[in-house]
Amino acid sequence: MLSKKLQDAINEQIAFEISSALIYKAMQAYFEHEDLPGFANWMDVQYQEELFHANRFFTYVCDAGGLAAMLPFEGARNDYESPLEAFRVTLDHEQQVTARIGKLMDLAREQGDHAAQIMLQWFITEQVEEEASAGLIIRKLERVEGDGRGLLMLDQELAQRVYTPPAGA
Ligand code: FEO
Repeated sequence: MLSKKLQDAINEQIAFEISSALIYKAMQAYFEHEDLPGFANWMDVQYQEELFHANRFFTYVCDAGGLAAMLPFEGARNDYESPLEAFRVTLDHEQQVTARIGKLMDLAREQGDHAAQIMLQWFITEQVEEEASAGLIIRKLERVEGDGRGLLMLDQELAQRVYTPPAGA
């Protein structure tokens, strides 16, 4: 049975995942406006992944006998100085997510909640990939900075990203 304390902490994480989705959707708007459809596609896939994360936590709270909640969110930026700035914000945001998931795991351990620990393990692994993919794009953007052709090539590469819901989820 999910404790009230862990339920409330997961509910806060649901809000954070929803806010992540909206942050990336607003970044999509920025890239659409900059005529970089590949970057926009990458952000749209990221948006869908974040909704999946939020729903995964939501479903867990319901299944574990808790009361899931949708907490309010203030809004997301849709303007950036450059693609590099947008991806630096992305990485910073993902690092915050990782730290939050770590704290949820600490709480689940403290409470001896084994089911919550198993659920959170998936997110710990997921965050390694989330940080790695944003970090890789930052390094590529740093390399092509000021080179329009390089930016367009990277845009074509990011256009290939496709949303695939995790198997068995
Ligand atoms: Fe749901 Fe990108 O962390």
